[in-house]
Amino acid sequence: EAEMYSVYKGLLVPSLLYTPESLKYFEEFVFRPDDIIIVTYPKSGTTWTQEIVPLIMSGGDPASVETLPNWERVPWLEEIQACTFNLQQRASPRMLTTHSPYNMMPPSFFEVIYVMRNPKDVFVSSFFYHRTASFLVNPGPQTDFLHKFLDGKVFFGSWFDHVKSWLKAEDKEHIMHISYEEMILDLKDSVGRIAQFLNKSLDPEVIEKIADRCLFKNMKNNNMSNYSAVPREFMDQTKSEFLRKGIAGDWENQLTVAEAEHFDFVYKDKMKDVKCKFVWD
Ligand code: PPS
Repeated sequence: EAEMYSVYKGLLVPSLLYTPESLKYFEEFVFRPDDIIIVTYPKSGTTWTQEIVPLIMSGGDPASVETLPNWERVPWLEEIQACTFNLQQRASPRMLTTHSPYNMMPPSFFEVIYVMRNPKDVFVSSFFYHRTASFLVNPGPQTDFLHKFLDGKVFFGSWFDHVKSWLKAEDKEHIMHISYEEMILDLKDSVGRIAQFLNKSLDPEVIEKIADRCLFKNMKNNNMSNYSAVPREFMDQTKSEFLRKGIAGDWENQLTVAEAEHFDFVYKDKMKDVKCKFVWD
């Protein structure tokens, strides 16, 4: 376990995906004013947003999500492959992704879409993901993993710190906060709001078409978004698919009453200074 993760500025990161070189590339990344950056804590709706944003920017062109796999289409800046995608040569507006907390961002970025999700569902999604991804530690029993998650002893650290860092940044940067749950409740409305944030005026029919393409069942069939191109040694989707359930509230099926109560107890304490109301509260 010790060798599987490294510590980057106090955050655990899987060593196979995040190397000293890739983290340096991230730190030194020079943004353009019109870069569009998707930011998430892992398992909060990253892949979903990596489908929505290119479709919006292309005016609904399916080729925007059928030509490149999601990790190349909207690359993670801190990941090992980022430096191989020639991002300096990409046409504007570039679409980028990061799991970085606010305080670790390279300077001078502008447009951020921050996607957050009910942490109980983030936990469940992450638990299953840890069983399929060979670059993540085996999660062990669910209750043990729950304690690790609540203590922030998981990759990219504490959910609470991450979300709070990006909520506090609101007045400083041009940030759109949106939740996975809002996208579940009304995807068309969410796509419309994201388009508006990105200054793209799209006809209602186009928005409807985009929302339809981004439905869970349709994204599952997109081989450029369902991680089917990743070798099984790296991600074994026979254990659990990357696009696993795609619902809000799966924690109710997965957590024991005691686990859910403990979660609420910690959540209440850690979020006591946060005024924002969430869909899941
Ligand atoms: S990662 O590893 O951080 O990039 O993971 P991320 O993409 O953020 O989160 C994966 C979860 O998002 C769900 N997902 C979706 N839900 C609903 N609709 C659509 N279109 C969709 N696309 C991805 C995915 O199924 C994971 O959640 P769970 O709860 O495990 O199903």
